[in-house]
Order: sequence, then C-alpha cells, then structure tokens
Amino acid sequence: MRQAGRYLPEYRASRERAGDFLTLCKTPELACEVTLQPLARFPLDAAIVFSDILTIPDAMGLGLSLEEGLGPRFARPVRTAEAIHALGVPDPATELRYVSDAIRLIKSEINVPLIGFCGSPWTLATYMIEGGSGHDFKIVKKMLYEDPALLSHLLDVVTRASTVYLQAQIEAGVDAVMIFDTWGGVLTTPAFETFSRAPMARIIAGLAGAVPSIVFTKGGGLWLESSAALGCEALGLDWTIDIDAARRRVGDRVALQGNMDPACLRAGPSAVAAEARAILDAYGPHPGHVFNLGHGITPDIDPENVAVLVETVHSHSATLHRAR
Ligand code: CP3
Repeated sequence: MRQAGRYLPEYRASRERAGDFLTLCKTPELACEVTLQPLARFPLDAAIVFSDILTIPDAMGLGLSLEEGLGPRFARPVRTAEAIHALGVPDPATELRYVSDAIRLIKSEINVPLIGFCGSPWTLATYMIEGGSGHDFKIVKKMLYEDPALLSHLLDVVTRASTVYLQAQIEAGVDAVMIFDTWGGVLTTPAFETFSRAPMARIIAGLAGAVPSIVFTKGGGLWLESSAALGCEALGLDWTIDIDAARRRVGDRVALQGNMDPACLRAGPSAVAAEARAILDAYGPHPGHVFNLGHGITPDIDPENVAVLVETVHSHSATLHRAR
C-alpha cells in the first residue's frame, strides 16, 4: 500500500514537477509515470494504479485539496439532507476519465498485473461528512445514530458511483480490484454489517466476477467470517491479526493478502527480513497468500528496506512452495 509515494525520491520529484498531488492523479502521463516508479526499483509482482479513493467525492463537486502535512480536505463537506440529496453519480467516462486514461497508458507499459481500486462507501462517507481526516468521527457517527436513513441515502449514491467507477477501471484493463475500507473498523458489529459490509457486497455483486476483487477492512479482524462471504476472492488483512489464525477462520473460501506491520520497515534490514519470513511461515505452504503490508508505507521509510522486503518474500516463499 502506497507502493508509489513520498518515501521514493523519484516520486517527490514528479510531484514537485506536477505542482501538487491532485494534478499528479489527474494527468494520465504523470499518474502512469509514478505507477511505474516502484516497478523500476523493485521486482514487484503487481502494480496498483496511482490515484486516490477521494476521486469520487472530488468528482461529485466537494472541492478536494491535499496539502502537505494536513491530509485531505473538502471545501464543501455534505452534512445536511439538502446537500446529500443534491449528490449525483459522476460519469466515469467524463468526470473520472483521467483514471481510465491512466490505466490504459499503464497497461501498455507493464507486464505484471494491475490493481484498480476504490474506497468503501462508508470510508468515503467519513471523509465527505467530516470534511477531512479525523480520528473521532463525531459528525458522521452522530448522523449514523440520529438519521440512519440519511446516511444510507449517501451510502447508496456512493455505492452506485463506486460500482460504475470500478466497471470503468475493469473496461480500461485492470486485472483485479481492491476496495479500501480504511474506517470500517471504527464501527460496532451491527453498524459494520449495515453501513460498511452491505454497500461493499452490492459493489462486488455489481462487478459480476469480471475480475478478482479484494476487500481490505482496517481493524476488521473481528468480522473475517462475514467478510469472507462478501463475494470477493480475497481479504486484505491489517497487521493486528495472526495470518495463520485468519486462515483457519476463513479456510479456502478466500485468499488472504497481508499482513506485515509497515512500522517494521523503520527497523534494520535483518529485522525486516525476519518479520517477512515469520509471516510467510505462519501462513505456511498453502496456496492463496498474497504478501502485502497491513497498511501504507509512510514517507520516512528507507527504500532499501523495501528492496530487502521484496527480495525476502521472493526467496523465502520459493522455499515454502517448492516441489508441491
Ligand atoms: O498504493 C499506491 O501506490 C496507490 C495509490 C494510493 C494512494 N492512496 C496514493 C496517495 C491508494 C491505493 C490510496 C488509497 C487511499 N487514499 C486510502 C485507502 C488506503 C489507506 O491508506 O487506508 C485512503 C484512506 C486515502 C485518503 C488519503 N489520501 C489520505 C488519508 C492521504 C494522506 C496520507 C498522507 O500520507 O499524507 C492521501 C494522500 C495520498 N494518497 C498520498 C499518496 C501517495 C500522499 C500524497 C502526497 O503527499 O504526495
């Protein structure tokens, strides 16, 4: 996660040239350039489209800006029935065309699978209602308990927008799609079912299995069994759950993607290699493990440690899967 990002000096140079993060996302040649940067450095097995989950609310007219150190901000958050009822579904062929154009360009340049993505409707709703990154979710949770029908209406619009957006990414050539449910883990169990899991299940049903789909709920370890029944092919795991315990709980209903603590990348190369081997060993010699970090790489990470990580995953998984 955040395979391309500020920990790479070449990314910072591209971003400098673009002027800002959103211009990078919205200029297909630049989005393609930064998508390819990690692949040029490391022998990675897949690429992820350089974009952001907030492109949908941006296209809905909420006025997205991303300032260094501040995180994302919306100039016009939606907090009233009027604002929510005025939202429409952006057309992926016009308002979000830059994403499909970037995908077509990237696909012409790479020979590894390309992952497309969107945010979960609940995660997008937190940003759209709060107006940016928060950690208390005061406004969106007040709406959840006070006016669940209004929140459901917002989630319905975002669900329809996300479905056509992923369909357009698939048409443009992505080989798999991933739904980032970054804030699903802050909900109660019944609220997760209603406001996060159900909209994601609708998106997946809408894709009709055109490509494999992966669902990542950060903090979702409590709900693995119900998440495994979402209709997706794989679940992304954060680092808090043991991957072998997760596998015992979901069996072979879904593949598992994860789950090294990205903070480990701040330690020395031998600690990084030991942790990667421990996760591969914990999963064991079974099929269906996609090694990944449990969340995004942060700007302070030394790219050399990422090189060690990728090398260790390749060499150690070869020993686990040999001659089977
Ligand atoms: O992983 C990749 O290389 C693909 C690109 C990608 C980005 N964002 C690029 C990005 C993906 C898959 C995302 C998803 C995303 N965006 C999520 C879900 C995954 C997660 O991290 O939980 C969320 C919650 C967002 C919203 C968002 N975008 C936040 C909270 C931030 C600020 C984070 C930060 O480190 O400042 C962003 C900006 C962002 N998206 C950056 C990148 C590389 C940093 C932008 C920059 O300053 O150059």
